[in-house]
Amino acid sequence: MTNVQIASLQQRASEIQWHHTIDLGHGVITPGKDNTPRKLARLALPDSLEGMTVLDVGAWDGFFSFEAERRGAARVLATDSFVWDGNVEGFGKKGFELAKQALGSHVEEMHIDALELNAERVGTWDMVFFLGVLYHMKHPLLALERVAEVTEKVLVLETLVDMLAYRRPAMAFYAGREVAQDDTNWCGPNPAAIAAMLRTVGFSRVDFVAPARPLYFRVARSLWHRYKSGHQFGAGVRTDRVVVHAWK
Ligand SMILES: C[S@@+](CC[C@H](N)C(=O)[O-])C[C@H]1O[C@@H](n2cnc3c(N)ncnc32)[C@H](O)[C@@H]1O
Repeated sequence: MTNVQIASLQQRASEIQWHHTIDLGHGVITPGKDNTPRKLARLALPDSLEGMTVLDVGAWDGFFSFEAERRGAARVLATDSFVWDGNVEGFGKKGFELAKQALGSHVEEMHIDALELNAERVGTWDMVFFLGVLYHMKHPLLALERVAEVTEKVLVLETLVDMLAYRRPAMAFYAGREVAQDDTNWCGPNPAAIAAMLRTVGFSRVDFVAPARPLYFRVARSLWHRYKSGHQFGAGVRTDRVVVHAWK
């Protein structure tokens, strides 16, 4: 790439509101709100996905789709609906499109709601990513049923968890903006509910590769965030993020 082309890429990237932090090469790194490389480290993906087929549900700017391709996946399909609909100010598909072009990627794409996924429409995939999407689902069990139908081998699920004080399956329902001031968040299952729902939809083994952190950690983290940015104390103690590998 010439210096002029790099400057043009930098300019186009700066006009987009990014969710993902993506290294586009030539020193251009997208200014994502999300610390995506840190999230990637928690997913415990195999270093090589050589020959595997990967479906990324709720791909947004596509970081995880491009990463699967980089790790050797034979075929990758990125899907999304809400953000790609472009109905929310500043959100859209421009980031995905620019990153795909800049990376010279062959990731396929389909605009489809998670609840409309089925084997007939998208086929089945060795590995399915469902990252940061479950808590946006008004019908979480139905969404997991749809995702299970298109998973051949393993589902990689990353999600918010709530109700951590309960051992039995329990799920918080967010009718308003109580989580991150975001009215697109609907549910916060606890780990027992996640395991139970995944078994219900047909997964035989459920491994928490990044489990919820212990209470003392969540208290310390919450105190820190309150001190640094005035965040609500209780929510940070009650909730966390987990990563699960669920096997067929
Ligand atoms: C928090 S972002 C997570 C993005 C990415 N998977 C990640 O982990 O960084 C949630 C994503 O889910 C998508 N989403 C929300 N509701 C959806 C639905 N009903 N069907 C498909 N995607 C949906 C949003 O458009 C957005 O891209």
